[in-house]
Amino acid sequence: MPQDEHSDHSEHGAPAKHSEHPARTASELYRHGLQLLLDKNMTDWVALCDDHAVFEFPFAPDGYPQRLEGRAAIAAYLEDYPDHIDLQAIPSLEIHQTGTPETIVVEMRATGRIVATGAPYEMAYIAVVTVIHDRITHYRDYWNPLAVPTSMSDAKSPLPQAPDGALMPHPDTTPPGHETAPDPATTPPGRDTFLVTGATGTTGSRLVPRLLALGHTVRAAGRRAPDLPGTEPLAFDWHDPATHDAALRETAGLYLIPPIAAPDPAAVMLPFLARARTAGVRRVVLLSSSAIPAGGPGVGQVHAALPDLFEEWVVLRPSWFMQNFTGNHVHAQAVRTHGTLTTATGTGRVGFIDAEDIAAVAAHALTDSPLPGHDLVLTGPEALTYDDIATTLTELTGRPVRHRPVTRDQLRDHLATAMPTEFATLLANLDHDLAHGAGSHLTDTVERVTGHPPLNFRTHAKRWWHDNRPRRGA
Ligand SMILES: NC(=O)c1ccc[n+]([C@@H]2O[C@H](COP(=O)([O-])OP(=O)(O)OC[C@H]3O[C@@H](n4cnc5c(N)ncnc54)[C@H](OP(=O)(O)O)[C@@H]3O)[C@@H](O)[C@H]2O)c1
Repeated sequence: MPQDEHSDHSEHGAPAKHSEHPARTASELYRHGLQLLLDKNMTDWVALCDDHAVFEFPFAPDGYPQRLEGRAAIAAYLEDYPDHIDLQAIPSLEIHQTGTPETIVVEMRATGRIVATGAPYEMAYIAVVTVIHDRITHYRDYWNPLAVPTSMSDAKSPLPQAPDGALMPHPDTTPPGHETAPDPATTPPGRDTFLVTGATGTTGSRLVPRLLALGHTVRAAGRRAPDLPGTEPLAFDWHDPATHDAALRETAGLYLIPPIAAPDPAAVMLPFLARARTAGVRRVVLLSSSAIPAGGPGVGQVHAALPDLFEEWVVLRPSWFMQNFTGNHVHAQAVRTHGTLTTATGTGRVGFIDAEDIAAVAAHALTDSPLPGHDLVLTGPEALTYDDIATTLTELTGRPVRHRPVTRDQLRDHLATAMPTEFATLLANLDHDLAHGAGSHLTDTVERVTGHPPLNFRTHAKRWWHDNRPRRGA
């Protein structure tokens, strides 16, 4: 069985391609938020917050909230902000990466004008900001109450209701490279070089910024050297051994996406892994699938070989990706063009997972000590049918999406018009297995390894729709 049966679970048999913008690092999201604030676009700034985001203002004096819970409360707190303060510039800004990729510490000074009087406004901030799944989940803001009299007394007007909360510096004011430069005090000891294969793909593209945020060097590999900021680009082709040595030079760890649609990935991967061992690679993290156990077909053969090659190895075995419906996967394309999801899964349930969660686990798997485990089956928080997926997409987008159930043989014949019969049969069989409960098992591995629960499909789809829905005038 080929290793990419999930991604190629398609009407056309073409490998999935993902042009969808991967989630931003905490620093990137923060900088984007600053631009929104300077643009006085509070609606979009609030949309950067998680539904259940918590904001804390430990130094807030009497009369100001010390804690806000949930996006609605944050929206209410901030909605009048531009009516009170005309934020104009961030003369100083430093963003420090912490030992947790999701969390940054921001030091900054904001200046502007008190709207009511035209008096100058100036405020210093220190904020600890956590971004998970491309949304702010926690914002602890030590805005300086002692600065309020200076800034506000000149205004000779009552204090604005929201003197702070979400101020962030203008992106242009960030010292070059500062957002990814780790604070030596908080960076874990030892920076390593990691090879990320499939660095342009669904999980690789989401892993790269996490490793950079931890202060590591990332060698980003693709068939054409990917141009990814902050990385060492590398032209790497599984089928071209001449590209392999450069990938292994002074490399501590590997993130491996098997060659897409290769019927026997072990044939090219095992010689590469033998070279990796000789070259001194310490740790290997392999992306497989929940449907393929060690020793199973395709990538299962690579999985089975790892314990004899490396002491430190981890195989990630995710369930089906949520991005299959929201990225550029054939399912997503069929939803967009025909409003249909054609499967032989019947009413079988699947623990769909967000690729962001896979990347989060991958970052831990490459860098944690001790290892978080060897064989990690990763799922989202709930097991859904394709009917459930269609219903959610219909509700969110307002466009009808229908699950079109077909039999295993119908699916095989349909797929076989666009791919070898053997491969079409495999894909149809996987759907058949899902129809009989093979994908319904859920695990708590994401939360155990990362410390945060996996994203559910509705939230994933909501965010995707928020970012991608057609805009008026667009
Ligand atoms: N989709 C799912 O539901 C699902 C579920 C479980 C497991 N999986 C597994 O996840 C893996 C990734 O699937 P995906 O669809 O999300 O793909 P992807 O990671 O989005 O794309 C594949 C990546 O591999 C690179 N690549 C392709 N051919 C290559 C080659 N010959 N040499 C070197 N790099 C090559 C591509 O980079 P360039 O184009 O830049 O070369 C691209 O970055 C597959 O192994 C699949 O079995 C998928």
